[in-house]
Amino acid sequence: MTIVAVWCRHEGDNIIGIGPHIPWHVSSDFKRFKRLTLDQSLIAGEKTYESFPNRTLPDRKIYVLTFNQNYEVSDKENHFVVTDINAFKDKTEIFYISGGASVYKAFMTGDFELKPDIVVDCCYHGAVDKTLQGPKIDITPCIEELSKSYRQISETYEEDNVTTRVMVKKGDFVDQSVIKHILKAIENKE
Ligand SMILES: NC(=O)c1ccc[n+]([C@@H]2O[C@H](COP(=O)([O-])OP(=O)(O)OC[C@H]3O[C@@H](n4cnc5c(N)ncnc54)[C@H](OP(=O)(O)O)[C@@H]3O)[C@@H](O)[C@H]2O)c1
Repeated sequence: MTIVAVWCRHEGDNIIGIGPHIPWHVSSDFKRFKRLTLDQSLIAGEKTYESFPNRTLPDRKIYVLTFNQNYEVSDKENHFVVTDINAFKDKTEIFYISGGASVYKAFMTGDFELKPDIVVDCCYHGAVDKTLQGPKIDITPCIEELSKSYRQISETYEEDNVTTRVMVKKGDFVDQSVIKHILKAIENKE
């Protein structure tokens, strides 16, 4: 199994959301996320899943984390409910953790076995939309863990006010085909 975390955070304060919203719109960042995750298996918290248009992302499998055993997904063929994060330990797939904050924190700061092998760390330098209502949601504990336990293995990419770096867990063997896929998705801007 390979676990990859993908996020876009705001520089300095590590905010990834205000209420249910991502407080910026950078279309190249959405496109990069799509290239990274198309035809892959995603893990999303229930709130993030609910925020996807029509509760789906086409051409991806989605594992929805929720404590609610009766939770109903929008697409029973491609979306799956997971109520115990430890269930991922038995799987052999490649997973892309796609938020939100509670899910990034559960993987990054929890059980060692579930720590992401790879993090695609995107950092947005522009202004945050402060007119949005709701609490500011940040992933500071994840960034502390990132600086302590991960090393950068890519160049630093700059595009549309977003800096992207690929980080791997120190001392970890990483599947090179996954790294290849990630770098291709970042570098191929179509
Ligand atoms: N900038 C980015 O890259 C990015 C990416 C994705 C999301 N976001 C933002 O992140 C924010 C949402 O984050 P959030 O932390 O509030 O919500 P979230 O992580 O998307 O979802 C939280 C829910 O996930 C379930 N959950 C979390 N950990 C679990 C575990 N260990 N076991 C079982 N279920 C678990 C619980 O669902 P139940 O309550 O149903 O039990 C919990 O209420 C939004 O602002 C969104 O826009 C930003």
